[in-house]
Amino acid sequence: MQVLLVEDDASYVALLAAEFEGSAIALHHADSLALGRRKLHERGFDAIILDLGLPDSSGVETVERMHDAAGGIPIVVLTSSGDEELSGLSMQHGAQDHLLKSDADANVLIRSLRHACERASFRRSLREGETRFRALVENSYDAITLLNERGRVIYDSRSVVRVMGYTPEERLGQSVTKSLHADDIPQIAERFAYCLDHPDEALRVEYRFLHKDGSWRWGEAVGVNRLADPAVHAVVVNHRDVTDRKVVETALRASEEQLRQAHKMEAVGRLAGGVAHDFNNVLTAIYGYTDLLLNQFPEGDRRRSDVQEIRRAAERAAGLTRQLLAFSRKQIMQPRVVDLNEIIGSIRTLLERLIGDEIGLEIESDPGLVRVTADAGQIEQVLMNLAANARDAMPDGGRLRIVMRNEQVMAMTIERAGLVSGTYAVVEVTDTGTGMPPHIRDHIFEPFYTTKELGKGTGLGLATVYGIVKQTGGGIFVESEEGQGTTFIVCLPQASDEGPTSSL
Ligand SMILES: Nc1ncnc2c1ncn2[C@@H]1O[C@H](COP(=O)(O)OP(=O)(O)OP(=O)(O)O)[C@@H](O)[C@H]1O
Ligand SMILES: [Mg+2]
Repeated sequence: MQVLLVEDDASYVALLAAEFEGSAIALHHADSLALGRRKLHERGFDAIILDLGLPDSSGVETVERMHDAAGGIPIVVLTSSGDEELSGLSMQHGAQDHLLKSDADANVLIRSLRHACERASFRRSLREGETRFRALVENSYDAITLLNERGRVIYDSRSVVRVMGYTPEERLGQSVTKSLHADDIPQIAERFAYCLDHPDEALRVEYRFLHKDGSWRWGEAVGVNRLADPAVHAVVVNHRDVTDRKVVETALRASEEQLRQAHKMEAVGRLAGGVAHDFNNVLTAIYGYTDLLLNQFPEGDRRRSDVQEIRRAAERAAGLTRQLLAFSRKQIMQPRVVDLNEIIGSIRTLLERLIGDEIGLEIESDPGLVRVTADAGQIEQVLMNLAANARDAMPDGGRLRIVMRNEQVMAMTIERAGLVSGTYAVVEVTDTGTGMPPHIRDHIFEPFYTTKELGKGTGLGLATVYGIVKQTGGGIFVESEEGQGTTFIVCLPQASDEGPTSSL
């Protein structure tokens, strides 16, 4: 053990040197504080024995100044006078032990030095552990935030700057909901309440947050309630930016869905187009022969009505074929910049006739609605199909509400999957009908999917609507619950150019 003895009393130095002769202690001597402090730089010492009455310093100040220079090397103070107060003071100022010269023989000193070293090394490892831990937290990829039970930030790791743009100082004391998207706050509040009730259970949440640079991002957080742990006393939250992952996921899901739908439409279209033509020829033959037959029966013949039934059936079949052809043919679009308020207003009477007297129609237009580039005829078809479905879902009457409004769509949102960011004109068609359970809702846009009895529906209505909306660059979404009615939400992108403007 290398020990530095700072002592100006030469006889005491000689005495100690003699006492330590042959022991594990190698003594190095300095006769002033200044020299002692200098010597600290010459080699590594394990401990310091310090006299308080030195030529260049005395009393507790000596401990203080030595301690400043010692960098954690333990100090054992040796004095000639037994002064309790001074002993307490020197311990307060960094000494590990305080001994009286008259009491301190070699054994006592060696024991004291050893204890001092052990304590110092324990402290050092504690400090190292803490430093390592701090470095881990500060340099972690995730941001680590501690929240109090009211959801306020009481600590942020440095990495929060990278994740959110704000410094820990800026966020200190703020509510955790401050930069969250308003739509996500209820969910987060509910999860936080759950977290408070379930200590130690890890909870994962996803949410949108506003980065300091003004952009919306997706975040993912895992929170654990450690409020009851006295060493932590906080809800510990690890959070990170998962925007890239989210964008890829959403785009992938949307394009898969689109591809699936496009494949189906194409296959069905080709099939329908091929069959419909030949089928029409067959129908022409049926018409022709029923007309011939009709001419052969005199007025009043009972068989005439049978033949008329055959003709009516053939007419229904022809109607179906026409629908199939309309669906299969790539409908030629005549897109113009149009105002949806006007298009929908213009078919109001038509819609009313379609849905009948038992159903009340409400149209709420929006004078500030952005214009869209679309084929007016197609938009009418969309509305008529949606209204027909609504009517069928309200056999006992009800209300049909059509609301128009603008919506700022943010790309990568689940509710508006497949849409790019921008302003959209939205038409919401809501009925008070039967609604749909999820297993039906998942299939309604598929061609030929119908829940209606044979002859009542072809199942092409919504497939056609879907095709038109997609062709126009928009999206259609449905919200429905069994017994709660249904809302179809049609989003069409704002026209990008000024182009030719037309009401219809
Ligand atoms: N407003 C609605 N309320 C409840 N269910 C609906 C609604 N709109 C559509 N559906 C369901 O979606 C299915 C598919 O609708 P779609 O318009 O494609 O075909 P359809 O109405 O059955 O037949 P078509 O429109 O070709 O005559 C319907 O059969 C029905 O089950
Ligand atoms: Mg329909």
